[in-house]
Amino acid sequence: MRSADYHIPVLAEEVADGLRIAQVSRVVDGTLGDGGYSLCFLERSASVQVIGIDLDRDAIERAGERLAGYGDRFRAVQGNFSDIDTLVGQLGVEDLEAIVVDLGISRLQVTDPAKGFMFSKPGPLLMRMGGASRVDAGKIVNEWDEKMLAQLLWEYGEERRARWIARAIVRARSNNPITMTDELAEVVRRAVPHDHAVKSLARVFQAIRIAVNDELNNLRSFLPKALQLLRPQGRLAVVSYHSLEDRICKEFFASQIRPCTCPPDLPICVCGKQPTIRWVERLVRPSEAEVQRNPNARSAKLRITERL
Ligand SMILES: C[S@@+](CC[C@H](N)C(=O)[O-])C[C@H]1O[C@@H](n2cnc3c(N)ncnc32)[C@H](O)[C@@H]1O
Repeated sequence: MRSADYHIPVLAEEVADGLRIAQVSRVVDGTLGDGGYSLCFLERSASVQVIGIDLDRDAIERAGERLAGYGDRFRAVQGNFSDIDTLVGQLGVEDLEAIVVDLGISRLQVTDPAKGFMFSKPGPLLMRMGGASRVDAGKIVNEWDEKMLAQLLWEYGEERRARWIARAIVRARSNNPITMTDELAEVVRRAVPHDHAVKSLARVFQAIRIAVNDELNNLRSFLPKALQLLRPQGRLAVVSYHSLEDRICKEFFASQIRPCTCPPDLPICVCGKQPTIRWVERLVRPSEAEVQRNPNARSAKLRITERL
């Protein structure tokens, strides 16, 4: 595999700095992908041990091969980061010093038509990151009613033309089920103005992918578990790529930084709830140079907190 074929890691140096990789003995890379972050960590420190988690078996294999030279300093497990407590528990690991997740999908997933994430090439309508999801994209597109589809595209895709597109999907599938990514893409293209087609396609595919993989609920379950696993001064970094994920992080972190539930008109706090974390980096965005090198980085937002 040429390194040019691997996912280009986003904000990797900033993540490694923020997690103080040079000083930690163990880090969990909760979204291993092609192992770009793990590689950066392993290269930065000769003593750090990295545990990589990914839902996608192919990611585990590829990253495993790529990082095999690091021996037992790198371990990979297939699983959902929403089960991080169980997954690291099975490895006999307890308090952690650093955890990162880099949300979304990898280059491997977006460029393999067989995985069904691509709208530019024909492939089966799947969009499953791992094997376990109960639904696939074909089921959503062919079985959900028009109202549910419109709501999905509106909520998870933030697509303004959600109702038009949902209507077009329902009309198209009344002839024949939509089974391929390019068939769905064609329905969307015909339902929206020509100059909006690419944006709408990206939003529609994003919305369906989020639903298939239950991405927002995975993140909601992961965040409190990750904090619980961190030892005091341990750090958690999250890289997100759209406002839905980022909002979940911001709200969760805010609730831990200011947990007081007293009515605002009370002069002093009586609930006694204490902050559990502090900000290390409230928001880091990629530099212009990084976006030039890797346009996929343009929407990335990195937030880092530290357990108190
Ligand atoms: C953006 S890529 C990570 C790329 C990686 N940082 C790199 O540099 O190569 C996201 C990865 O997270 C995985 N993923 C997404 N949701 C997951 C979840 N809930 N649990 C485990 N892995 C997940 C995807 O399968 C994908 O491989």
